[in-house]
Amino acid sequence: MNHTEERLPGRKDRCNLTDYEQERRTFDWQEIEKTFSWHETGKVNIAYESIDRHALSDKGDKIALRYSDPTRQSSYTFEEMRKKTNQAGQVFRKLGLKKGDRLFVFMPRSPECYFALLGAIKIGAIVGPLFEAFMETAVRDRLQDSGAAAIVTTPELLHRVPVSELPELKHVILVGEDLKLEDHQTDLIAEMSQASEKLEIEWVDREDGMLLHYTSGSTGKPKGVYHVHNAMIQHYYTGKIVLDLQEEDVYWCTADPGWVTGTSYGIFAPWLNGVTNVVRGGRFSPQDWYDTLQSQEITVWYSAPTAFRMLMGAGNDIVSQYDLSKVRHILSVGEPLNPEVIRWGMQVYKQRIHDTWWMTETGAQLICNYPSMDMKPGSMGKPIPGVEAAIIDDQGNELPPYRMGNLAIRTPWPSMMRKIWNNPGKYQEYFYLSGWYISGDSAYQDEEGYFFFQGRIDDVINTSGERVGPFEVESKLVEHPAIAEAGVIGKPDPVRGEIIKAFISLRKGYEPSEELIQEIRAFVKEGLSAHAAPREIEFKEKLPKTRSGKIMRRVLKAWELDLPTGDLSTIED
Ligand code: PRX
Repeated sequence: MNHTEERLPGRKDRCNLTDYEQERRTFDWQEIEKTFSWHETGKVNIAYESIDRHALSDKGDKIALRYSDPTRQSSYTFEEMRKKTNQAGQVFRKLGLKKGDRLFVFMPRSPECYFALLGAIKIGAIVGPLFEAFMETAVRDRLQDSGAAAIVTTPELLHRVPVSELPELKHVILVGEDLKLEDHQTDLIAEMSQASEKLEIEWVDREDGMLLHYTSGSTGKPKGVYHVHNAMIQHYYTGKIVLDLQEEDVYWCTADPGWVTGTSYGIFAPWLNGVTNVVRGGRFSPQDWYDTLQSQEITVWYSAPTAFRMLMGAGNDIVSQYDLSKVRHILSVGEPLNPEVIRWGMQVYKQRIHDTWWMTETGAQLICNYPSMDMKPGSMGKPIPGVEAAIIDDQGNELPPYRMGNLAIRTPWPSMMRKIWNNPGKYQEYFYLSGWYISGDSAYQDEEGYFFFQGRIDDVINTSGERVGPFEVESKLVEHPAIAEAGVIGKPDPVRGEIIKAFISLRKGYEPSEELIQEIRAFVKEGLSAHAAPREIEFKEKLPKTRSGKIMRRVLKAWELDLPTGDLSTIED
C-alpha cells in the first residue's frame, strides 16, 4: 500500500472551490447547466458554447488559442476561432458531410487541427482524433470499425491511410502546402480561404455524438468510446473547480487531442471557461517545456506523471534557469502520481502537483485533488461534487476503509460514454453490477474518504500514460513470419510507469538473435505505433497457456517479477 500520513495543506486564497464538503452537500448539475445559452435557447452544440458564445460576447478580442512549435507561432482570438471553425465547417458541409458522419483528424497538433476538430463538430459530425504516431494497421482498424466518411490528414501521413481498404471513406482532406490533389482529395486550407466565415451551426440534441476516442482493453481490437455534447456540463465544471480556471489564466495542457485529455482538457474545459489556451507542437524536451512555461507565462499547467518524472530526471539546476513564477496551479493525470514526484514538485516548483483520476470512458475528471483541499501524496483525491465513487467487491458490496476492491462510480454522470461503437456487449461489461460503472482499476479508500489507486484488474498496460492493449500488440507480433506465439505484459519501469515486454516463441527454422529482436520491434513500430512496440523481448521455447489455448499473461508477469505463479490448474501441461 502506498498509504502515508503526510499531508499537504490546501490553499486558502483565491480558488473557485473554497469548501469541497459544502459544495458536495448542496451540489446540483442543473445549476451548472444554466451557464450555457442552450439552457434558454434549446440550441445545443459544444463547439458553439466553447467558441462562439465567447466570440459573440465581450470576449471576442480575447486570445483563445496560442499555438507554438519550433517553426511556427500564431494566436487566434475567440472571434477569429469562430470564423476559422465556421470555414472548416463550410468545407466539410460542401463535401456533403453531415450530422452523425464519422470524420477523423489524423495529424500533428497545429491550429488547423483545432479548426478541423471544432468545425466538424459544428456541422454535427462525430470526430475521431488520432495520434500522428499511428501506423497503417492502427488507422485502418479505427476507420473500418467506425465506417468513417472522411479523414483530415497531412501529405506526410497519407501513406498510412489505406484508402483502398476503406470503401466507406469518401473524402481525404489534406492540410499542407503546394498540394497535388488526386480524386476524392480536398485542400483544407485553400478551401477554407474561399469559404464564407458564416456557418449555420447544426443544432443537435444533448445526447447526440461528438467524439469517438478509441482506446484499448485487454482483449479484442480497440474500442470506440462514444461521447455526446452533454459532456460539456462536466468539462466546464471540472475546468472551473479542478483546473481552477479564472478569467486571466493562461492554460497549458500538454496532451495531444489523440488522447482524451487533449480533447476534454485540451479543447473543451479551457474554452468552455473562456480562457487563453496554449498549444505546443513538437516533441518533449525539458528545455522546451520550461521555455514554454516561462515565455508563454503559463499560469495553469496540466500534464502527466511520465513527463514530471522526466523533468525530475533532468535535474533541479535547469529549473532555476527559468522564471516559472507565473505558474500557480499544476495538475497531473494518466498514471499513478508518485509521492516522490509531489515532494520534488514542492521543492522545485514550490507548490503541489494535483493528481486527477479519470478514463477515456468517463469523459472527464471524476476523482481529484482540489486546490483548497488538503492533499495526501499518493492519493488521487476525492470524487467531484455531483459524483459518487466507492470501492466495491465483485458482488457489489461497498467495502470499508483500507480494503482493496473495484473502483466504481455510481451511474450516470454528465460526461459518461454513451456507447462503445458497434459493440453493445463491450459496453455492457462496464455495468455488470447494477447501478455502477466498474472502472477496471482497483483502489482503496481511507477513513477520510481519500482514494488510493492500486492497479488495473485486467491486463491493460499503461506506458507513459498511454493505454496499450496486450492483445493488439500480440496480434501484430504473430503476423511476423518468425513468430509462432506471443504474450505481452506491462513491466514496472521507474520513468514510464510500465514498459511493454513481449515473450515470444519462434517458429521452426528461426533462432533468437539481436537482429531478430530489432526487426520485431521495428515491425510493431511500423505496423501499429511506436508506443506499442515492446521495449523488451524475451524468447521462450513455449508460452504458458490455458487448455483452451489462451496465453496466461498472469504467469508471464509472475515469471518476470519473480512472484508466485498462483493457481495453475487451467494450464495446458
Ligand atoms: O488505470 C487508470 C489510469 O489510466 C486509465 C485510463 O486510461 P485512459 O483511458 O487512457 O485515460 C487516461 C486519461 C484520462 C485508468 O483506468 N489512470 C488515469 N489517471 C490515473 C490513473 N492511474 C492512477 N492515477 C491516476 N491519476
